[in-house]
Amino acid sequence: ASVHPFFGAHQAGITTPVQDRLHFASFDMMARTDRHDLISLLQDWTYAAARLTQGLDVSASGAVGGSPEAPPDDTGEAQGLGASGLTITFGFGPTLFELAGVDRYGLASQRPAVLEPLPSFLGDDLDPDASGGDLCVQACADDPQVAVHAIRNLSRIAFGRARLRWSQLGFGRTSRTTSAQQTPRNLFGFKDGTRNILADDTAALDQHVWVSAPDSPAWMAGGSYLVARKIAMLVETWDRVRLLEQNDIIGRTKGEGAPLSGGQEHTEPDFHKVDSSGMPLIPVNSHMRLAHADANQGTRILRRGYNFVDGNNHLGRLDAGLFFLSYQRSPEQFIRIQRRLSKDAMNEYIRHVQSGLWAIPPGAAAGSYVGARLF
Ligand code: HEM
Repeated sequence: ASVHPFFGAHQAGITTPVQDRLHFASFDMMARTDRHDLISLLQDWTYAAARLTQGLDVSASGAVGGSPEAPPDDTGEAQGLGASGLTITFGFGPTLFELAGVDRYGLASQRPAVLEPLPSFLGDDLDPDASGGDLCVQACADDPQVAVHAIRNLSRIAFGRARLRWSQLGFGRTSRTTSAQQTPRNLFGFKDGTRNILADDTAALDQHVWVSAPDSPAWMAGGSYLVARKIAMLVETWDRVRLLEQNDIIGRTKGEGAPLSGGQEHTEPDFHKVDSSGMPLIPVNSHMRLAHADANQGTRILRRGYNFVDGNNHLGRLDAGLFFLSYQRSPEQFIRIQRRLSKDAMNEYIRHVQSGLWAIPPGAAAGSYVGARLF
């Protein structure tokens, strides 16, 4: 099983080969906490995350090595599971910098200008209580229990300083971040992540994912911005759609994932190709066509989402969908593509129900902590 370094120029969990499982958590700072509480929380989280990602307990005494008269430091359910490819990625929401005009932590002047709550989009059906948040933690691993253990123990460490606002489990990745990874499938049954920004494409990462000069503020250099969107997928309705129409909605074939203009999965789409009646082979309202860089002034994003099924409703329909996660150099990239998708033929079968935006600081150097350059 793989072990990913925690410290480095960029946080792990972005270009890291996408793991199979996700536990994502949004936290709010608690009332009456101050700048010192926030710094100490980030230091404690860094210490624990650096250990957890190496397959260790949260502290040296851990699950069973401490005093039998005290509750153990580590909750214990990940003993014996190793690192399982765990990465833990931390982010700062707009409200951390300013909440209802109040600068709780002396950070307002450091807020990146682009870290504004996302605008509302056509068709949004968001639950405000399960959106946003002062801090986010993305835990990805190849074992679900390892990801859950990480979030559970980080929540425990946050006691008295921050508490869980909302969280999401994901099973089944819906993207790939290395050319060696096979393209997985989403719950519509289509290959997802065919055209993503990959870890070895440093030029694309520098252009589209990592913050760097002339972007400001300076403390974000080497960081990125994370958009999360919980997107419900009306799978029972989708499952009654003819295969040909499913293909037309996505703009690719369901089996191979090839563009409807022909070829194989990784053949470049030809948006100019038309059928005998002059209609574009890749329909004008297909998801792939509208999301593609050619329709968005060259804009690209790094997608890292997960499938979810959170039980079912009283009509016997699955509460299922895509927990969409994308990393970009500026939130404007997501905003541009999402606005373009207002005409997406897929919209009849999806609904955005939760949302969040966080600044992802650069990676921490060994001996320092995540976000240190902010203080
Ligand atoms: C491509 C599914 C939401 C951005 C794709 C593809 C599928 C897909 C099947 C084609 C294969 C690929 O290249 O990955 C879905 C589903 C969604 C969803 C089921 C919602 C439930 C979104 C959203 C965005 C987005 C919200 C961004 C605002 C993209 C981009 C591509 C893509 C940038 C690559 C286009 C290209 O370069 O060819 N999506 N998607 N998708 N999607 Fe989505």
